[in-house]
Amino acid sequence: MDEIQKIQWFPGHMTKTKRKIQANLKLVNIVAEIIDARIPISSRNPDLNDIIKSKPRIILMNKCDMADPKKTESWINYYKKNGITAIAVDCKSSKGLNKFIPTVKSVLSDKIANWKSKGMVSKDIRIMVVGIPNVGKSSFINKMAKGSKAKVEDRPGVTRGNQWFSIGKGFEILDTPGVLWPKFEDPKVGENLAFTGAVKDQIMDTEFLAQRLLYVLKDEYEEDIKQRFKLEKYDISELSCNEILEFIARKRGMLMQGGIVDTQRAATMVLDEFRGAKIARITLERVEDVGLA
Ligand code: G4P
Repeated sequence: MDEIQKIQWFPGHMTKTKRKIQANLKLVNIVAEIIDARIPISSRNPDLNDIIKSKPRIILMNKCDMADPKKTESWINYYKKNGITAIAVDCKSSKGLNKFIPTVKSVLSDKIANWKSKGMVSKDIRIMVVGIPNVGKSSFINKMAKGSKAKVEDRPGVTRGNQWFSIGKGFEILDTPGVLWPKFEDPKVGENLAFTGAVKDQIMDTEFLAQRLLYVLKDEYEEDIKQRFKLEKYDISELSCNEILEFIARKRGMLMQGGIVDTQRAATMVLDEFRGAKIARITLERVEDVGLA
């Protein structure tokens, strides 16, 4: 776990990023916060509330194709109860993206009505995307901006260098997303980011990480592990994670010279299969976990 905790953003980097987001905030009407639907707590940066203050916001639960659909639904209800509109999207296949503009309209409905009452009918709605690395910000912008040519900005008061894509009549998206830093204070956050691949493997022990993942999954997704790795005849709740990894290696024929099980190879495979949602559609954090950290 220590290794994971060491992966930190430098404070200077955070300050610079924060300033950049704050500058861009002045140019937009709404923020689209992208999170990873598999880790809705760990893939959010709680500091965002302080940065964006009262600016309207939508949460996009991206990668919902890999997340547990029931849990995604409970998260959406949870955000709703807390006054935030969230939608489930999959920026790989574009699923759910058709809901984006209608949702923006609905979140900004009072503002739009206010503009209309003042005769500002042709005002464009401008959107900025924010999120921690690897949640799918670029994928989202690319999908939404498909077919739209980047416009060169010529309006006064707009930071030079910003480009906007038209994503529908009267809706524009800023081409560069705000990159937030993850909150590593809680070791679980670092671990979850490592499980999903948001933090790169080279900097930590793959075997240890795979064992930790099996430990976490064993609780709620025991049947899925058994099925995927053909361990039906074992009571894996009674096994240590090291033993589970060894059984998996054996089942997949991962043996080295002398018949020694290659747990290192098995670990890489377990992590790959989790990240590819081959074990199951899995969400690692539940609404009930909020505030438990
Ligand atoms: P970022 O800008 O926030 O850093 O994220 P980016 O769009 O680069 O996406 C990170 C990875 O997540 C990419 O995979 C991307 O394809 C994948 N991704 C984004 N949205 C979704 C989604 O809704 N579902 C799934 N399954 N994957 C998604 P990669 O392996 O880094 O690149 P590549 O496979 O696209 O080449």
